[in-house]
Amino acid sequence: MTTSTGPFIAAIDQGTTSSRCIVFDRDGRIVAVDQKEHEQIFPKPGWVEHDATEIWTNVQEVVAGAIAKAEITAADVKAVGITNQRETTVLWDKNTGEPVHNALVWQDTRTDALCKELGRNVGQDRFRRETGLPLASYFSGPKVRWLLDNVEGLRERAEAGDILFGTMDSWVIWNLTGGVNGGRHVTDVTNASRTLLMNLHELAWDERILASMEIPAAVLPEIRSSAEVYGEVKDGVLAGVPVASALGDQQAALFGQTCFAEGEAKSTYGTGTFMLMNTGDKIINSYSGLLTTVGYQIGDEKPVYALEGSIAVTGSLVQWMRDQMGLIKSAAEIETLASSVEDNGGAYFVPAFSGLFAPYWRSDARGVIAGLTRYVTKAHIARAVLEATAWQTREITDAMTKDSGVELSALKVDGGMTSNNLLMQTLSDFLDAPVVRPMVAETTCLGAAYAAGLAVGFWPDTDALRANWRRAAEWTPRMPAEQREREYKSWLKAVERTMGWVD
Ligand code: G3P
Repeated sequence: MTTSTGPFIAAIDQGTTSSRCIVFDRDGRIVAVDQKEHEQIFPKPGWVEHDATEIWTNVQEVVAGAIAKAEITAADVKAVGITNQRETTVLWDKNTGEPVHNALVWQDTRTDALCKELGRNVGQDRFRRETGLPLASYFSGPKVRWLLDNVEGLRERAEAGDILFGTMDSWVIWNLTGGVNGGRHVTDVTNASRTLLMNLHELAWDERILASMEIPAAVLPEIRSSAEVYGEVKDGVLAGVPVASALGDQQAALFGQTCFAEGEAKSTYGTGTFMLMNTGDKIINSYSGLLTTVGYQIGDEKPVYALEGSIAVTGSLVQWMRDQMGLIKSAAEIETLASSVEDNGGAYFVPAFSGLFAPYWRSDARGVIAGLTRYVTKAHIARAVLEATAWQTREITDAMTKDSGVELSALKVDGGMTSNNLLMQTLSDFLDAPVVRPMVAETTCLGAAYAAGLAVGFWPDTDALRANWRRAAEWTPRMPAEQREREYKSWLKAVERTMGWVD
């Protein structure tokens, strides 16, 4: 039973490993949470899929679960906001609502050869000026093209207008607003900015890129702002509630951390890790391997852009240690195991499971553990696993400083891994900067709730949201500079060894 009095905002976070629904009150406090994991499907090395139907079933369950736990009804909920794992691509039949194939997850590398082919003679930056992104298997456009080329008869059905494409925001919104009975086929500017198909300057699908990738415009959703009413929930416990925001999860976390001013940045530690810096109305081209992306757009206001450093594997490395290696029983155990030794025993673990993302963008890289001797125990490996997250963050903060000219004064962090104190201390040591965690670490859902609340007038403006941000914990650097730089060199050496593994 909630002690907060309503009304409330609900947020749905359709993430890489689970779907969640959180109910927030006007102070941005969590009133109720429900969460359910879905299956990770690995058909071949480097391939990662999700069952979009399972995901939609889970979304409905967690929405019902959170509303039941909060002991409220649709009448108490002023709006629902959506946030989601980005880039993951689903195509479905608009007449039956059935996905035509499992969703291709952002970590999936099967489009590597296609991306190389698209960049032949021109290079990886062929569409960077328009989209802010390099040609890489991470993004949705090549995944759409792969499905059109590989699912029998799909291209004809798509050209006839029977097939819809969406990232998970579109899939969830279409289903929430009625599905085959009038569901809205929309996406928001942040999710569209991850497809390699949207022109960042015009916030519209880029016809030249669509032609190059051979993607028919008929499959594409309408691009809308991140905070506006797209439609109403058709059925279930939230029937009649306006669906009023959509943001990719990393942009939602930027919003939830209230990074509304130019130069403010956050880093979210989930399956992967993503650092975003607000660059205001400036589209800053990166020369250091970062992405240029849309941060958010509130209604008909001007869009706010961001620079992003994306790391594919951080939390998922801990899951891998648990599920595939069986070295720990729970994710939390990694901290105890890693704390049982003083250091990494000389071992460095570079988890290039999906190639390397920022700042390298090397789909041909694969994971390595370097520096092994018989001295190394599983506790040293556990430590190397945590250090991998911190070193990868160091690499993207260095790139961020180069591109933006702004020195990092402190890093705002959030996400599941931030409950790991050893990791947070290591991060502060490797960055040589304070690391700060807010009271509500569920900033992804909070950001979606904030955007939905702004759209329906539940909160008056972004100043009201800022007032809700409160510091919960802070870590400051303790490592001698000489040791930091020596170990960083070893890390960079290990990174080099991952590259060129796949032809
Ligand atoms: O770009 C991928 C990202 O959106 C996934 O985030 O939190 O589900 O790992 P997460």
